[in-house]
Amino acid sequence: MQYTLLVNGASTSVDVDSDTPLLWVLRDHLNLTGTKFGCGVGQCGACTVHLDGQATRSCQWIVRDVGARHITTIEGLSADGSHPVQRAWVREQVPQCGYCQVGQIMSAAALLAGTPHPTDADIDAAMAGNICRCGTYQRIRRAIHVAAGDAP
Ligand code: FES
Ligand code: FES
Repeated sequence: MQYTLLVNGASTSVDVDSDTPLLWVLRDHLNLTGTKFGCGVGQCGACTVHLDGQATRSCQWIVRDVGARHITTIEGLSADGSHPVQRAWVREQVPQCGYCQVGQIMSAAALLAGTPHPTDADIDAAMAGNICRCGTYQRIRRAIHVAAGDAP
């Protein structure tokens, strides 16, 4: 089936089976490989993208259900890594192995878009679905405060 998707501000067509997860459409058909596969069952957050600005597990959406929603991947968050969350991640040296971090950044960016000055509790609630096997949670929390302008 042919589907027209709105990805990172541009309309693009893909020819895929209707039950293909959005994650694989992005990675395998559109070559947007920043978004990662972790568990495939909605439990880890590695595949997080934005659908209409909401942090969404792309492994849990099949392509036929996406419709006209605006999809944003890490490649579309900024052209040059200059989104405040990306800058804060660099400043705070958040990643260890890095595998989970695109999902973390996408969840953090969605949080800050709706809650510009989140508390620790807001951060914990918003980020609870993003697992980091390297245990970078403290740096993630601090970087979100930095991106919000709430940390020195
Ligand atoms: S790969 Fe989608 S939540 Fe783990
Ligand atoms: S940095 Fe390694 S899993 Fe998060």
